Amino acid sequence: TIRWKINTGETDFLEAIEAAAAMLKEGKTVAFPTETVYGLGADATNPQAVDNIFRAKGRPQDNPLIAHVATIEQLKQLVTYIPPYAEKLIEAYSPGPITYVLKDNGTCAENVTAGLETVAVRIPDHPVALALLKKTGRPVAAPSANISGKPSPTTADHVWEDLQGKIAGLIDGGPTGVGVESTVIDCTGDVPIILRPGGITKEQLEEVAGTVVIDPGLTDQKEKPKSPGMKYRHYAPEIPLWLVEGGPSVLQKLIDKKRKAGLKVAVLASTMTCSQLEGDALYPLGEDLAEIAARLYEGLRTFKKGDYDLILCETFPEEGIGQAIMNRLRKAASNTLTAAD
Ligand code: TXA
Ligand code: MG
Repeated sequence: TIRWKINTGETDFLEAIEAAAAMLKEGKTVAFPTETVYGLGADATNPQAVDNIFRAKGRPQDNPLIAHVATIEQLKQLVTYIPPYAEKLIEAYSPGPITYVLKDNGTCAENVTAGLETVAVRIPDHPVALALLKKTGRPVAAPSANISGKPSPTTADHVWEDLQGKIAGLIDGGPTGVGVESTVIDCTGDVPIILRPGGITKEQLEEVAGTVVIDPGLTDQKEKPKSPGMKYRHYAPEIPLWLVEGGPSVLQKLIDKKRKAGLKVAVLASTMTCSQLEGDALYPLGEDLAEIAARLYEGLRTFKKGDYDLILCETFPEEGIGQAIMNRLRKAASNTLTAAD
């Protein structure tokens, strides 16, 4: 794996981008930063190249990938039809942390869409990603650049830890900004449906598109999620993660109880909550929901087997980016505790 460290202000920026784009055009895989998480890219029009992504990640074949493009014109070249509300969203939030599921016109290889009639497309808001996409001149399929099932990577070191030796290149452009993945919205019906909450919030979508529906499969255990990826357990840390409802005093009570039982307990919570707790290891995620989103996956990766037995994490308000945070935490957690525990 060739690793380029780049600073967007420096002159070696273009050299790395050119080398990485050449690799992509040869059918190789290159990991690169976006504003959400690092992606593992391959030429979306080349089925063998796309297959390299599935093999490097150990990703199930039935889970489709997002095609990344640099411009709205390129996005339009991948789909048959864009409804008016989706046109408005694309105008308002591109480039940005949002992915549009639209009717596929067959430009992307079949393993990108996992044989579905739709294709997921996004324009990332990151100078390195945009430069790479422009230089490559083709749609680039890119899931998060982690081993399937693990937390998504928000730094180049996370990618290195998971995929070193399994991919051709890695562009290190520093930590990503948003920290959770893009919002995936189904734009094939009368109103947009949120298939995965993410960087663009439901409130932001409503401002532009009016009515917005959340896929019932995201919250109702009896409903099947519309997005194939949302049915898998995901974002799992090395040691069990338990969510704790009820605030700092409940959290402290449970920390004490688990430590008395001989467990080494790590805690993920807001900076404010951490300041009120005592424990073996406290990991302050930040002051507000945006900061918490940005540091969440780093927090989930920090505590290793052997050092700790259990991670306890507080729950956060499900407003704004909090919806994406809680969606990821519920998928990562194996248990939820309350004051009654
Ligand atoms: O922020 C992001 O979206 C990152 C960066 C790298 O761009 N990418 C990312 O990709 O999170 P991935 O593969 O980890 O997640 C893509 C999600 C999966 O849940 C997948 O099932 C869903 O999008 N998806 C892809 N194509 C779809 C389609 N045609 N219909 C419904 N869901 C789709
Ligand atoms: Mg992923």
